[in-house]
Amino acid sequence: MTLIDGKAIAARINEETRASVAALKARGITPGLAVVIVGDDPASHAYVRSKEKTARDIGMHSVKIELPRETTQEELLAQVRRLNADPLIHGILVQSPPPRHIDERVVIGSLDPRKDVDGFHPVNVAKVALGDPDAFVPCTPLGCQRLLLESGIQIAGADVVVLGRSMIVGKPLALLLMNKGRGGDATVTVAHSRTRDLAEVCRRADILVAAIGQPEFVKADMVREGAVVIDVGINRIADPSSPKGARLVGDVAFAEVAAKCSAITPVPGGVGPMTIAMLMHNTVLAAERIGK
Ligand code: GUN
Repeated sequence: MTLIDGKAIAARINEETRASVAALKARGITPGLAVVIVGDDPASHAYVRSKEKTARDIGMHSVKIELPRETTQEELLAQVRRLNADPLIHGILVQSPPPRHIDERVVIGSLDPRKDVDGFHPVNVAKVALGDPDAFVPCTPLGCQRLLLESGIQIAGADVVVLGRSMIVGKPLALLLMNKGRGGDATVTVAHSRTRDLAEVCRRADILVAAIGQPEFVKADMVREGAVVIDVGINRIADPSSPKGARLVGDVAFAEVAAKCSAITPVPGGVGPMTIAMLMHNTVLAAERIGK
């Protein structure tokens, strides 16, 4: 069984991105990333801190905008408009989910698609569906695809089951893996909570991607012997034996599934660091495109 080391692969990619940032700076362009977070969810704040820190570490201009929970939709839209117009900012990310009184679709629709490094704007969603190379591809699906490519796993012709149909992971990943060309050409099934005979569907997979948001949902009986398993889940569960009283687990019951598959990503240290590496990559792309 191979443990797919997302942390090491992401570190390598970040070094490449650092070189691209240096090359842009030599042309007078410093890639700038703005991360906006509304409210005080601790997990979201932790993600945003790592995004901002990585951006800074690799030499980007990095701005974090923290807004209180009571921020109105109009105030958030005003921030987005200001960032759309800011020539020092090439990438804008609004951390999801916002508080319930904010309509996320309206906020995403207000982003300049050329600065939408999350790939959530309808223009970019459409471009991914079209297989347009100019798309900004959402960072987590892009990170999953890159992990498979870097690990030398055959995607073309493979039976892939994507468990989960979210707009952030499941749907765009299914499109990426079924699109024509490198990193694509798979036979993709999207399964979810309403899928009949879910275990049986999952057992067909050469590559099983778990993005369902349920701790340790995927058990050994859902995985074919020798399959590749990509675990997108990040779930905090109570653990009285740990010093913090809690620990992170994925959407996969790691120990029992690892004993059965040919390769698997750990949580933490699998997909998570790749998401951030792809955000940096997308921000450099945005700066290259806008800077031209
Ligand atoms: N929340 C969880 N994942 C993501 C992501 O990739 N981008 C944003 N903006 N919010 C998220």
